[in-house]
Amino acid sequence: MAQILPSIFGANILRLQDEIRFLEDESTEILHVDLMDGTYVSNIAFGPNQIAAMKKGSKMMFDVHMMLANPERHIDEVINTGAEMISVHYESTPHVHFILQKIKKAGRKAGVVINPGTPERLLEYLLDDIDYILIMTINPGQPGQTFIDKSLEKIRNTKKMIAGRNIQIEVDGGVNLEIAKKVQEAGADLIVVGGALFNDSPKSSYQALKAAMV
Ligand code: DX5
Ligand code: ZN
Repeated sequence: MAQILPSIFGANILRLQDEIRFLEDESTEILHVDLMDGTYVSNIAFGPNQIAAMKKGSKMMFDVHMMLANPERHIDEVINTGAEMISVHYESTPHVHFILQKIKKAGRKAGVVINPGTPERLLEYLLDDIDYILIMTINPGQPGQTFIDKSLEKIRNTKKMIAGRNIQIEVDGGVNLEIAKKVQEAGADLIVVGGALFNDSPKSSYQALKAAMV
């Protein structure tokens, strides 16, 4: 069964503790946490210190999505946050394999992320070293963007490429209830949702999203 991963970037920062409680009360297993540096992507969000503090105040597993230049310089700090899942953008570094190995050696799940313009076949030589592939379904950095339809084909192709392997497919960006059903059908296992969950009626939106998972 596919799983919804709420993206804390979409939450109300002034009520962060309440938002975390709400997600825990809704039996959320994994929280998606964006780390943005203002260089690899234009936005700036949660650094390792903030992530470590959130992690201490929560029972959920953390899935840290690193969107930063030179991730090899920061990977140790990210591992030290305690996050159970850590992903690195394929495009962000010439040292993607080195970083994945570091994540695995630390006993965490390692993910590689690809932007909408990056073909999944580039991941061929990394398949032995990863636990999940995060397919960006928008260009990273800004929430509230429209899901890129071509991503459905990429999810299906990725599913074929990893056949027989213990690798999960995660998607992130522009997912609402209708799209959650489509990406699940295409083969997504982990579905990140920000704006379509943290809206005026988060409880009913979240429950509808969860109910659509089969
Ligand atoms: C965007 C982030 C996403 C973001 C998704 O770069 O990686 O995790 O929170 O937000 P929505 O679901 O609103 O597109
Ligand atoms: Zn993300």
